[in-house]
Formats: sequence, structure tokens, C-alpha cells
Amino acid sequence: MAKRVGFATRLGAIAAAVGSAVGLGNIWRFPYEAGENGGGAFILVYIICILVMGIPVILSEFIIGRSTHSNMKAALRKLSPGKKYYLFTYVCILGSFVVIGFYSVVCGWIIEYLYQAALGNLSGHTPQEYSDMFTALVANPWRCVGWTVIFLVLNFLVMSRGIAKGIERVASIMMPLLFIILIIFCINALLLPGASKGLRFMFEPDFSELTMKGVLAAFGQAFLSLSIGISCLVTYASYYKDDMSLVKDATTVAVLDTMVAILSGVMIFPAVFSFGVEPTAGPRLIFEVLPGIFQQMAGGYLWALLFFLLVFFASLTSTISLSEIPITFMIEEHKMSRPRAIAWTALFTFALAVLAALSFNVLDDIKLWGKNIFDMMDYAASNIFMLIGGIFTALYVGWIMDRKIIHEQLTNGGRLKGRSESYMLFCMRYIAPVCIVFIFLYLTGII
Ligand code: PFF
Repeated sequence: MAKRVGFATRLGAIAAAVGSAVGLGNIWRFPYEAGENGGGAFILVYIICILVMGIPVILSEFIIGRSTHSNMKAALRKLSPGKKYYLFTYVCILGSFVVIGFYSVVCGWIIEYLYQAALGNLSGHTPQEYSDMFTALVANPWRCVGWTVIFLVLNFLVMSRGIAKGIERVASIMMPLLFIILIIFCINALLLPGASKGLRFMFEPDFSELTMKGVLAAFGQAFLSLSIGISCLVTYASYYKDDMSLVKDATTVAVLDTMVAILSGVMIFPAVFSFGVEPTAGPRLIFEVLPGIFQQMAGGYLWALLFFLLVFFASLTSTISLSEIPITFMIEEHKMSRPRAIAWTALFTFALAVLAALSFNVLDDIKLWGKNIFDMMDYAASNIFMLIGGIFTALYVGWIMDRKIIHEQLTNGGRLKGRSESYMLFCMRYIAPVCIVFIFLYLTGII
């Protein structure tokens, strides 16, 4: 088995987890999910999810990973010898493929917009023209598949050259830059005529707009955004040193991730109302709205380029962490060489991603419950795989894992105070099952 090396510094370890968490989930998906599900009320439920399930599940994954220094399957075998809990790992692997499948299509759109920004095509048009531009992109199978494949080739090149760590280092510079640029865009969006309507939409919850579907969507969004439920953070934490404070680091990841999501909302919604775009536009929302923001900024050409470049890097650090789940699994559990594991992962990913890329054009008449293949993958990833996976992880740590190990992990063997231990355990033991019952009742149509 390959020798396991840890992260050199605490900052490096946190940067990698934040790099995984911050991505298209925050910038592309959070605004449109909020827009489709009533705005303020959705955001409030989202924040509650982060507090009662998000942070406890991050912590559960950290505990499993660091206490065993193993991948998910080996960890569950070590923690529960002779039991079948390790079978859950296969759900994680499948989930990770489904996420990369649809996610890389959106990464492809980001590269197309980076290209269009470089050509200077993201200025001087009306909102309707920007909308038509996106429609033309997704209707074109060659362009959709082409950009998606280019993105995946880049992703797997980074992984096969073993330069993922280098990319993470670049990202730890890019990430703060992304944060600053988001703030600059927010200020510009707030200066648009009628911007206050966007802020009211985000921060004045109207509970009559919130449905059960919206609550489920908020949970799914929180889990996707935090990268939890498919063992990604178990893999990262298996490399953590024993003196890192897991509670502090889990909270830092959740807070930074949520801040990026909220900032993306503050950037988008004032512009949505100012340009008269429907907040319920769905996956196309940011692509219709962003060019309008760039074009009213001085030096808009450069801002557009910089923005899409930063989002590209943020997406790449997320897909690197996603692809690492099956790759580490194949190397450690099936004794494959790294190049072979990468080749298999790439093969499955390409197949799923091409299907997703074609679902807006060639395959657009294949629909289940009104959803095309892309939408189905997106829905299954966040609302089924990650949600159920995250809750399983919380229940496992809350009810099955040895309490002594949990205490030791949360207090670093008694060196830390561990004040939040009872709160975390309460969420894992009681809130998680309530969520499961709720999801079950919802999916079976009872509520
Ligand atoms: N959290 C990432 C985002 O918000 O874009 C997506 C993601 C990365 C999900 C890694 C799952 C994962 F394992």
C-alpha cells in the first residue's frame, strides 16, 4: 500500500478542504436553488441545515478519517470489524461519479464563458441576447461535449501528473482572490437601479413561498456545497495530523463556504431584479445575469476574464477532490497502480459527463419526472446520494462508533476542552434520524 503522507501544515489541510467545498455549488447552484425556492426562507433553512447537520456531518467524516488514517472502506472495517457497514463505501463511490458527471458539464460552460470573455463577447448586449447566447450554447452538442471533455482532460492530467497538490497551492492564493472579487462584484451589483429588491428577496424570508420540496432542496444544497456524504472529507481527514482541532476546522470550512454562497447571492439577485430576469430561471441563471454586471463596470473585460478564471480554479479544486474518492479507493482497496486507477475513473466519468452534456440537445427528449439526464444526475447527487450518505455518516458516528474514540478525536486525547461535544453528538444522534424520517415521508409522497 502506498505510504500515507500527511498535510505539511494546518493551513494546507484547511485550504484543501475549503478548496473542495468552495466551487460551482456556491457560485452557480446556490443562487439558482435559492431563486427557485423562494429566496429568503430557503436561505434561512439552508443556514439552519449548516448548523444542525452540516457541521456535525463534516465532523463525523473528520472523526472517521483521522481516527483510522484510512479510506472509507478500510476505516469502516477497522472501526466495526466483522460488520457490513463498509458496504456503504460503494454508495459513496457511485455518488462521486454522479456528482462529477453533471458537475463537469457546468465546468465546461465556465470554460466557454472564459473563452467568450477573452474574445470580448460578454459586453454590449441586452439581457435577452445573453439569454439567447446561453440557449445557443446548450443546444449545441459539439460545444457542450467539447468543453466538458476539455475540462475533464485537464482534470485528469493534473491528477496523473501528481500536480494536484500544486494546483491546491495555486488555489490557496486564488481562493482569497475569489473572495475579494466577489465582494467587488457585490458592491457593483448593489449600485444597480432597483438592487434593493434583490436584497429583500434574499433577506426577508417569505414563508408562504417555502415548500417541502424547498426544504429538501436546502438540505441537498448544503450537503453538496460542503462536500459531505460521499466520504470526500473522510479521505482528506485521513491525512490530518493528530494535533489539529477538528471542531475548529470543521467550523472554519462551513463558515467560509457559507460566506461564499451568500456573497454569490448578493452578487446575483440585485442584478436579477434590475435586469428583469426571472429568479426561477434555474441552471442558466448566473450565465444570463453575470455579463450584465461586467458590462457596467469600468474595465469590465478584465473583470470578466478574472472572474471566470477564478471560478475555473475553484471548480478544479472541487473536481480534484471528487476524483480522488474513487482513485484512492481503487489504489488502496484493489491494489491498482495510480495510472490505472486514474484511467478507470476517467473512463466512467467521461461516459457519464457526455450523457449529461447531451441531455440539453441530442438526448433532450429522455425525461423522467420532467427532468432530463443532467437534472436527474444533479437531483440524485445532492438530494439522494449526498443527503442519505451524510445522514448515514452522522448516525454511524452518533450511535455505532465507540464513544471513547469520538471523545479522543474531539479533544485530541484530552488536550482540548471539547465544549461542543454534547451539541455535536445530539445533532448526530437525534437530528439526523428526524431528517431521515422527513426525507422518507417526502420521497414517498406522504408529506
Ligand atoms: N462542494 C463542491 C461545490 O460546492 O462546488 C462540490 C463537491 C466537491 C461535492 C467534492 C462533493 C465533493 F466530494
